[in-house]
Amino acid sequence: MLGGGKKLFPLHMPSLHHDPSASSEFLWILCNPGSENALKQEVHASGLEWRPSYQEKGFVTFKSPLGGPLFSRSDLLRPFACARRMALSLGKFPDVEAARAAACAFDGIEIHQVKISRRDSLQHVHPAPRLPQKGAAIATLIETESGACWAGVHWHAEFLSPDPGGASCIEMPAHSPSRAWLKWEEARRFWQLDFANDEIFVELGCAPGGVLLALLERGHGVIGVDAANLSDCLASYAVPTRAAAPTHGPWLYHCRRPAALCGKKDLGSGIAWFMSDMNQRPAVVLQECARFCQMCGTIRGVFINLKLTDFSELSEQAQWIGALHQLGFSTVRLQQMLPHHREFALLGLR
Ligand SMILES: C[S@@+](CC[C@H](N)C(=O)[O-])C[C@H]1O[C@@H](n2cnc3c(N)ncnc32)[C@H](O)[C@@H]1O
Repeated sequence: MLGGGKKLFPLHMPSLHHDPSASSEFLWILCNPGSENALKQEVHASGLEWRPSYQEKGFVTFKSPLGGPLFSRSDLLRPFACARRMALSLGKFPDVEAARAAACAFDGIEIHQVKISRRDSLQHVHPAPRLPQKGAAIATLIETESGACWAGVHWHAEFLSPDPGGASCIEMPAHSPSRAWLKWEEARRFWQLDFANDEIFVELGCAPGGVLLALLERGHGVIGVDAANLSDCLASYAVPTRAAAPTHGPWLYHCRRPAALCGKKDLGSGIAWFMSDMNQRPAVVLQECARFCQMCGTIRGVFINLKLTDFSELSEQAQWIGALHQLGFSTVRLQQMLPHHREFALLGLR
């Protein structure tokens, strides 16, 4: 069993990497500052009897169910949208060196160290030197705003962020027309999404063009749908009609209309990804997503930035996820990323 509260027992677990029986009385979760209650609500709504315990801004701990099983590795894979990083707790320590010493007692463990700060919300103290291998055991040391230091262990897996604290801390380039660049690049990195250069994207709600810029600078062809103006910094990529687009990217066709008026002719053939960043209700966005998937049978992935007016709307998440399953996407994830406020990234992969 790993540590719980202030105790650690036993310290020596010879092969943590492959030990499926690792367990702890406590589990902690890193979330965005302000999402703590939404996270606890998600856990509660899932029917698990995890008991909310100590919490600080961006950091929530749970105690295992009364008389129930201890937390185990499989609990760390539960898909809570507000959870950026979940770990079996090693406990609370007086300082970071004590936490590091406890974590280093496990052979070959990788160490991530992060600090929750008022200004940036999360800083990497020691950025991870490389991408972790699937199954690698990672100890995260967290300095919270109160000055306490916590440690916990997780095992890297597909669709878990490879970065300390589940946040890349990528910086947005100064020439990006909007923060949407950062939200998209963060999600790409979090889920390790891979694209072929010749994949074509359509983005609904594309103005002023932060996401377009990120896609164009990676060499993609993009159809941007929005009645609003695009930033001048995209002008050099623009083609006047969909038919005028070259066979290879980067190119940008701006379909200057609301999404509902965009038809097959505007899309042409070969679209691989549907994206939406429209400030519309999730039900409206998902309805458009279904229409676009019907128009373009080649879509293999969906990436939607869902904007909520209130965290209580998260209770509808099963419907959003179910809607993508119904459209034939077998892998679906909902995740709040560090640059998000009341937003969540919804991913669907065939
Ligand atoms: C947050 S901004 C998008 C930011 C953009 N993705 C970027 O990368 O800079 C939301 C956009 O959604 C657009 N929008 C809202 N409703 C829409 C609709 N029905 N069809 C197309 N665009 C819409 C708005 O005009 C606005 O430009």
